[in-house]
Amino acid sequence: MIVNCGQLTANDVGKNVEVYGWCRYKRDHGGKLFIDLADRYGITQLVFEGKVNDRASELGKEYVIKVNGSVRKRSQETIDKDNPTGTVEVYVKDYELINASLLPPFELIDEKKKFLANEDLRMKYRYLDLRRKEMIKRVEFRDRVTKTIRKFLWDNGFMELETPTLVKDTYETGSRTFLVPSRTNPGKFYALAQSPQMYKQLCMISGLDKYFQVAHAFRDEDPREDRQPEHTQIDLEVSFKDEEYIQGLIEGLLAEVFEKSLGKKIGTPFKHMDYFYAMENYGSDKPDLRFDSKIVDITNEIADSDYKIVKRVIENKGKVRAVAFAAGFGTDKPILDKQYMLRLIETAKSLGLAGLTWLYVKNGVIASEPESISETLKKVEQRIIVKLDAKDGDVILMCSDVSDQLLLSVLGKIRKEVGRKIGKFSNEYEILWVDGFPLFEKDEVTNQFKPSHNPFTSPNQSTVRYMESEPEKVIGRQYDLVINGEECGGGSIRISNPDIQKAVFKTIGMTDEQIERTFGFMVEALRYGAPIHGGIALGLDRLLTILSNESDIREFILFPKNKKYESPIDGSPTDINDKRLKDDYGILTGQM
Ligand code: AMO
Repeated sequence: MIVNCGQLTANDVGKNVEVYGWCRYKRDHGGKLFIDLADRYGITQLVFEGKVNDRASELGKEYVIKVNGSVRKRSQETIDKDNPTGTVEVYVKDYELINASLLPPFELIDEKKKFLANEDLRMKYRYLDLRRKEMIKRVEFRDRVTKTIRKFLWDNGFMELETPTLVKDTYETGSRTFLVPSRTNPGKFYALAQSPQMYKQLCMISGLDKYFQVAHAFRDEDPREDRQPEHTQIDLEVSFKDEEYIQGLIEGLLAEVFEKSLGKKIGTPFKHMDYFYAMENYGSDKPDLRFDSKIVDITNEIADSDYKIVKRVIENKGKVRAVAFAAGFGTDKPILDKQYMLRLIETAKSLGLAGLTWLYVKNGVIASEPESISETLKKVEQRIIVKLDAKDGDVILMCSDVSDQLLLSVLGKIRKEVGRKIGKFSNEYEILWVDGFPLFEKDEVTNQFKPSHNPFTSPNQSTVRYMESEPEKVIGRQYDLVINGEECGGGSIRISNPDIQKAVFKTIGMTDEQIERTFGFMVEALRYGAPIHGGIALGLDRLLTILSNESDIREFILFPKNKKYESPIDGSPTDINDKRLKDDYGILTGQM
């Protein structure tokens, strides 16, 4: 009987088995050799005695072998309770060396030792890293979640379809596009799809009304912990439905994912938060609601103080905002210390503010280090404490600037960082929809409007009249799914009217000629009887990371890119020589 390494139990004692695996851990007890044989299912202890033991000294770490042996009960003192196969062992009658292995560059049995090899090394030898138990669990988790999502969508009448990866280079707001030269059309390029957006809309025009796809999306944007140049989206699109249907569907889908993959019940429907409320109170359109601390405007309260720095900002029509955290400051058990506060000041500066003032509440009054700051606030301290609802031990972080947008965004980042440092979150999930986004935002450099998400989002009916006169007032039918302060998905009801679609393109500064050249095919398709439609894409890698309470998206991707978006495993991206560029792709290097 062929068995895997995670299968044998006390019920198998006495059976003859054939088992394959990798020699993970070896203990020589003089005349008796124990090897932990591993595969993705688990670990089985092998015992070599007599003749086979004489030969087995050849077996090194990660050698692959085939073993024939009999299952025996382990003696009481050698039972490993943490291992499902820990009550038995395989007494080796014979074995075959399938392949030797080079000595792995890092330990593959690190779970107990909490040792983790350097990141680039793990990625270079990802095929070895993936043999580790922790990684196997992540891969299985990914499979389980994807399976649940697929089944849920199939059960709800969605078809899994595939849209092209090689698409037209069009207008993109956020990230750059990866280009692919066309050999058969020298000098011309495809773009790698940043998402299936236009094609899934074309599916709706085709009448394929309930589409979904586990799609790879390619984006050349600046690296971050929660980003990869190639990520997976669960994309879906549906016709003749509204926001309520799509959000309800995703709520049902996530409830199923939480239940099936984490054994956890989540409450539905999810909360909703208006974009402007989120920005004003959390300094972010993806607020982490696992902690309360809101950003509060204390401009009026502090205006009568003697704190010169902020008074100057107020005189210049700037604002002062603050956020309080229960940090046990000034008590015997502070959660944060002064060094941390000094680092926060540097963070605020690096993000563009002149600085940050930190204060704390002690015996009902505001204290500071140095004391001189709190002295300047004496007159107004009670008003500030009341406005912030601050308690003894709270630390108050305060910033001021003439640009309220900058002030909110920096405080938003600081709020997130401090909240996460203080909070002890275990398996808590705060899920919400953020909606009511403006359809357009102004590019500060070019002063030109651009879509705040993508140009296909439908304006909401009551604000569409501002499209030409005051585009900043137009609200889009866009919704983002936020879990624990991370954007896990985004979608919208789309424009299905070709004239409104053209009006949006014009608002973002495109001429008729540019619209025709870039999006002509899309506008034309909308003229052939487009249904009302909308959809969403969930970021699968990000969702898995958050569900697992981790922070690095790469842990859930089989073969990720590193922080410089290189692939340590194959060394890409690589140089392509001029001759090949010219001969195979018709690109003259001088042109590049
Ligand atoms: P959006 O651009 O918001 O929407 O992407 C959807 C979700 O994909 C995830 N995501 C990423 N994950 C990892 N690395 C990246 N570089 C990355 N970029 C995005 C996020 C995000 O919420 N076409 C629209 C969807 C729609 O409107 O239906 C779109 O792509 O979790």
